[in-house]
Amino acid sequence: MSGLLDMGVPPVLPNNNDHLHTRTHRQAMSKILFIVSLIMLTSACVPTSYEALPEQQSPLESFWQKSISTDITQYSCIVCHHSESIASETDYVLLQNNVDDYLDKNLEITLAYLEKSEQHGQLFLSKSRGLDHTQVLNVESDKYLTLQSFVEMATQQDEIRASAISYYKASLSDNLMQTQCLACHVEEGLAASTGLVLTDANTANHQDINANRVINFASLSNTNFDNVLLKATGFDHAGGEVVASDSEEAGFLMAFLSLLNPSSTQ
Ligand code: HEC
Ligand code: HEC
Repeated sequence: MSGLLDMGVPPVLPNNNDHLHTRTHRQAMSKILFIVSLIMLTSACVPTSYEALPEQQSPLESFWQKSISTDITQYSCIVCHHSESIASETDYVLLQNNVDDYLDKNLEITLAYLEKSEQHGQLFLSKSRGLDHTQVLNVESDKYLTLQSFVEMATQQDEIRASAISYYKASLSDNLMQTQCLACHVEEGLAASTGLVLTDANTANHQDINANRVINFASLSNTNFDNVLLKATGFDHAGGEVVASDSEEAGFLMAFLSLLNPSSTQ
C-alpha cells in the first residue's frame, strides 16, 4: 500500500477523525470542481488523439494533411522515398498518391519511423536539411520550420503516451482495472459491446495492451475522456459505482487522465 501512496497522488484516508468531515467534504468539492473543469476544458480544447479517426481528426493528423503531406513529403521526399526509387532500401519508404488511403498510411509510416528511437526525430530532420543526405529543405525555410514543428508534436505525443502507460502499469492496472473493471469489460463480459474491452492477465503484455486500449478509448472523444472517470464513479454507468469519487483509486484515475490531457486539471 505504501508503495502506491508514493506515486505522487496524495493519500485519501485522513489520519485523524477530527478532520474526517472537512477532508471528505473538501475532496467531494474538489472532485466536483475537477469534473466541471474537466468538462469545460475538454470541450474547449481538442483532446490529444493518437489514432486516425474517420469522423474526428486529431491535431497531428490535420497538421499532416494540411501542411506536411502535399507540400513536403509528396512534393520533396517521395521522388526518392518510394518502393521503386533510390531510397527504397531505407527505413523510410512512403506510398505514392495512387495508393488508396496514402494520406493516413504515410502518416503512420512517418510516425513509425520517428518512434524507432529517441534519435530518429533528429535524424529525420537532419536528413531533410542535408546532413549525410541530399539537401532537400533549407534550414531557414518555412517548410523546414513546419516539418520541425511536426516532428516535435509527434515525438511529444509519444512521451505523453509513454508516461501515461507507465503510470497505468504502476497505479491502475492491478489496483483497479484488472481487479474491478475486468469483471465486465472483457470479451463475453457485460460490457463486451462497449468501446472499452480489456484483456485478462493470461495474455502476455496485458498491462501494455490494456494501457494502450484505455488511452485509445479516452483519446477518441471528449465524451470518452470524461466517461472513464464518470462511469467508474457511477455516473450513468450500467456497471454502477465501481469506486467512490473520493477513493484512492478515483484519484489514480484522475492523475492518469491528467497525464493524457494536462490542461484538463488544475
Ligand atoms: C534525391 C533523392 C532523395 C530525396 C529527394 C530525399 N531523400 Fe531521404 N534518402 C535518400 C537516400 C538515397 C537515402 C539513403 C542514404 C542516406 O541515408 O542518406 C535517404 C535516407 C533518408 C533517411 C534515413 C532513412 C533510414 O533508413 O534511417 C531519412 C529519414 C530521409 N532520407 C528523409 C527524407 C525526407 C524527410 C525527405 C524529404 C524532405 C527526403 N529524405 C528526401 C534520398 C532522398
Ligand atoms: C458490473 C459490470 C461493470 C463493471 C464492473 C464496470 N463496468 Fe463499465 N460498463 C458496463 C456496462 C454494461 C457498460 C455499457 C453501458 C453504459 O455505458 O453504462 C459500461 C460502460 C462503460 C464505459 C463507456 C464505454 C463506451 O463505449 O462508451 C466506460 C468508460 C466504463 N464503463 C468504464 C468502466 C471502468 C473504468 C470500470 C472499472 C473502474 C468499469 N467500467 C467497470 C459494466 C461494467
